[in-house]
Amino acid sequence: MRFSTLSAISLGAALAAASDVVDLTGSSFQEFTQQNPLTLVEFFAPWCGHCKALAPHYEEAATILKKDNVPIAKVDCTVETELCSSMGVNGYPCAPPFPAVSDLEGVPTRRGGRIRQALPAVSEVTTANHNEFKSADKVVIIAYVDESDEATKTTFNNFADLYRDDYLFGLSTEPAVAAVANVKAPAVVLYKTFDEGRNELDGKITDDSLFLFAKEHSVPLLDEISPDNFAMYAEAGIPLAYIFVESSNPKREQIVKAIEPIAREHKGKINFVWIDANKFADHAKSLNLVEPTWPAFAIQNIQQMTKFPLSQSKSVDHDTVSAFVADFVAGKISPSIKSQKVPAVQDEPVFVLVADEFDKVVAEDKDLLVEFYAPWCGHCKKLKPIYDTLGERFSNVKSKVTIAKFDATENDVPASAGFKVQGFPTIKFKAAGSSEWISYEGDRSLDSFVEFLEANATHDLATPDDLEAELEGESKVKSERHDELRTRAI
Ligand SMILES: *[C@@H]1O[C@H](CO)[C@@H](O)[C@H](O)[C@H]1NC(C)=O
Repeated sequence: MRFSTLSAISLGAALAAASDVVDLTGSSFQEFTQQNPLTLVEFFAPWCGHCKALAPHYEEAATILKKDNVPIAKVDCTVETELCSSMGVNGYPCAPPFPAVSDLEGVPTRRGGRIRQALPAVSEVTTANHNEFKSADKVVIIAYVDESDEATKTTFNNFADLYRDDYLFGLSTEPAVAAVANVKAPAVVLYKTFDEGRNELDGKITDDSLFLFAKEHSVPLLDEISPDNFAMYAEAGIPLAYIFVESSNPKREQIVKAIEPIAREHKGKINFVWIDANKFADHAKSLNLVEPTWPAFAIQNIQQMTKFPLSQSKSVDHDTVSAFVADFVAGKISPSIKSQKVPAVQDEPVFVLVADEFDKVVAEDKDLLVEFYAPWCGHCKKLKPIYDTLGERFSNVKSKVTIAKFDATENDVPASAGFKVQGFPTIKFKAAGSSEWISYEGDRSLDSFVEFLEANATHDLATPDDLEAELEGESKVKSERHDELRTRAI
């Protein structure tokens, strides 16, 4: 579902006194959506600026759509972490400051979603609607074909079926329309509201040529990124470079223009966008940039969840960015890893693990349990007393096991971990001497944790450190004596 569609619904209706938006939780979600298969669900986080901006529109839309029996619901992903991650809504560290939007197929949908699914994939274009149709969306693809050219029609229709969520498609068989468009059938033209405004497909019209043509020309050289187009960039499979600048900055256009040649040089390899630094400061923060030093620049590898912020002591100008991007492409820049300071003393019941110490702690010959949490996460708060007790429970075997917590909002999980944290809390275990992380999937009771650790630990966790030391001491003494005897015997 596309939210701009919702927010654009004309708002004649009076504001509802009570909210018509249904709050769903992990326990009510399934039953509700089974009973109401056409539910629109917003997965949100209370701290997300765009979610806040959307809220009033969402309320109004809910009131309007209620009459058509289309319920609108919302899920607070900071509380319902399991539900959200099971729905493919990525929380931290991707943390898009945009509401993740999902239809009920379990995958966050791209723009269009169900509403566009309900329209025919290809609209008929005539002299009467041609002008209007070609500017009806950001990207509109129109085929101009002869009435008798069934082969081209089929190729185009099949392509449109596959990509109906991404682009608006039209087809015209009127020679007069082709004439107005200044093409000779068969031809395909991509109309867009940005850059050069129009591209014509060269050569034969095939599945492949349509695919490459649409892909190459549908992404603007350097557009503003927003909730509407975020998914497109996230799914593009190439790194995304951001210019963070306030939309109110009088020099914004100038700053963005200066970067355009760099975007052109890397077209198809890195996407470039600008983003409103005020509205999406949280996103900047997730890329390890700090407020409010704007403009700022960062590259994000969305697939690998790595980030490469340009030092904020540098100015965002053509030469600086060009050199930085060249170094990035050459693999000369290491991803930025955010970390809290290594604690001077560990005085909490559980070990406070930070990114800078991650590899060192992981390399120790100890069994290791780590809770990756966010301070705002409800389930994490609930777990805290139990987890603290767990830490105390094993405090007499600290030489053999580490019970740790890792604040994943203030620390990046280093790439060396080999996994990504996508929901909170994420609890992982690594046995001493093993390099494999196991996800803790048991229930979050003290007994289950203890049972899990005792069963899966390499070390014997039942023997306390002091007793162990004594035993070790004894055996050392024994073996020394043994040596003595042997020496004598010789
Ligand atoms: C030990 O770890 C495995 C996962 O590798 C898990 O399935 C099992 O339940 C754990 N044992 C106990 C007793 O919790």
